[in-house]
Order: sequence, then C-alpha cells, then structure tokens
Amino acid sequence: MHTRLSVNINKIATLRNARGGNNPNVVKAAIDAQLFGAEGITVHPRPDERHITYKDVHEIKPIIQTEFNIEGNPSEKKFMDLVLSVKPHQVTLVPDVSLQLTSDHGWDTLKHKDFLIDVITTFKKAGIRVSIFVDPDLKMIEGAAKINTDRIELYTEGYARLYAAGKKEKAIQPYVIAAKLAHQLGLGINAGHDLDLQNLQYLKQHIPFLDEVSIGHALICDALYLGFENTIQLYKRQLQISE
Ligand code: PXP
Repeated sequence: MHTRLSVNINKIATLRNARGGNNPNVVKAAIDAQLFGAEGITVHPRPDERHITYKDVHEIKPIIQTEFNIEGNPSEKKFMDLVLSVKPHQVTLVPDVSLQLTSDHGWDTLKHKDFLIDVITTFKKAGIRVSIFVDPDLKMIEGAAKINTDRIELYTEGYARLYAAGKKEKAIQPYVIAAKLAHQLGLGINAGHDLDLQNLQYLKQHIPFLDEVSIGHALICDALYLGFENTIQLYKRQLQISE
C-alpha cells in the first residue's frame, strides 16, 4: 500500500527564530515542500512556541493542498483551542511535558483512557481525524483501539536506535507485531521519530499497512546538503517499495 510522506517543518521555524526575522519563511517552506512532493505537512507547536508558533499554524492552514497534521499535548487548553479553530485533517496527540526537548514516549492508553476518550470525541465531532502516539506495546495498542482513535502513530525512536547499532531484525520485530495487531483492531497506522534516509526503507518493507510517516529533523538536515526538493524525492523513493 502507498505510505504518505508528511514533512515536519518545525526545524525551519527553529532556524527562523534564531534571528527573529522571517527568514526562512515557514509558509513558503510548506508551499514548496508540497510542490516538491510532500504528501502532508506536519507541525508541532509547543506551549513555549520555540519553533512553530500558533500564528504560523493559522498562516499555514490556507496553503495546504495535501494534508495538515498538527501534533501536540491536548492537556494544554491552548492546544485544544488551536486545533479546533484551525481544523487540520489530522491531529496527533503526544504526551509531552511542556519543556521537553522532543517527544520521548507514547501514551499510556490504559491510565489516560478517560481523558483520551473525551479529547478524541471532541476532535472527531469537529471532523478531525485523530492519531495517538504510542510505543510498540501491545497492551497500549489494545487500549488505543478501545478509546476510538482513528489511528496510532508508532514511536520509532527505539527502532532507529537499534537499526543504527546494526540490529535491524531485532529493531523491527516489535513494530511488525504491533502494526499487525493495530490493523486487526481496525486502527490506521502512522509512524514517526528519528526516521531517516538509512532506516526508512527497511521500516517500510517490513511494517504492513503503514498509512503515513512524519519526518522532520533528519529530512531538514539532509536538505542542507542535498537540497529540499531532492531530499523530499529521496525520502519518497524509500517509501516506494512494497511490504
Ligand atoms: N512524531 C512525533 C509525535 C513527534 O513529536 C516528532 C518530532 O516533532 C516526529 C514525529 C518527527 O520526528 P523527527 O523530527 O525525529 O523526524
């Protein structure tokens, strides 16, 4: 099946914020990423707005021709209000604390069941597809199916780390089992975090039913050397292999 590439443009905003002006322009980056082949744009506004700002999210929405995915922690009222007013195609719920450097764990879908049911119901009523960030832990995936989320996003940092250490079979195994269970339970499957040009193709080859990957850090770093258009095309090529 076809797996969509959603490009996370947070790092473009980090670079812009370093000088306080509007260079590089994140709205232009989102327009260009789509022209260059991105099949979605992802942003992760954090409460301190250290990269993508809430204003950016509003400005990006009208230029989206593919799919808009907003990531964040729904325990922040500001985040809930933003998503409900922007109405992206998809919201990805992440259990980050506010000053966290980057996401480093998935939801405990059993412990936070009631909270997640409320949030998911609110977003789904507004016509927004919901994905929740989870580790490849079967109990958490069973929990995800019970709270009526549309999709899960498998947190792939563990995969990336073991892959880089040369243990690719061991790296992929829990993700294959998790993806099969998620599919059986009727969930769509996204994946993200620490995916790059080295580890993406192997992930795609082995994980069945992969709807979408969202990639930021490595893709923007590669673009410094390889160019933005070429880099997006190279990532897409890694996904054009059947599982
Ligand atoms: N998915 C989620 C939930 C994230 O928080 C992030 C980082 O913002 C990503 C995917 C993308 O990770 P990376 O920048 O390592 O590609």
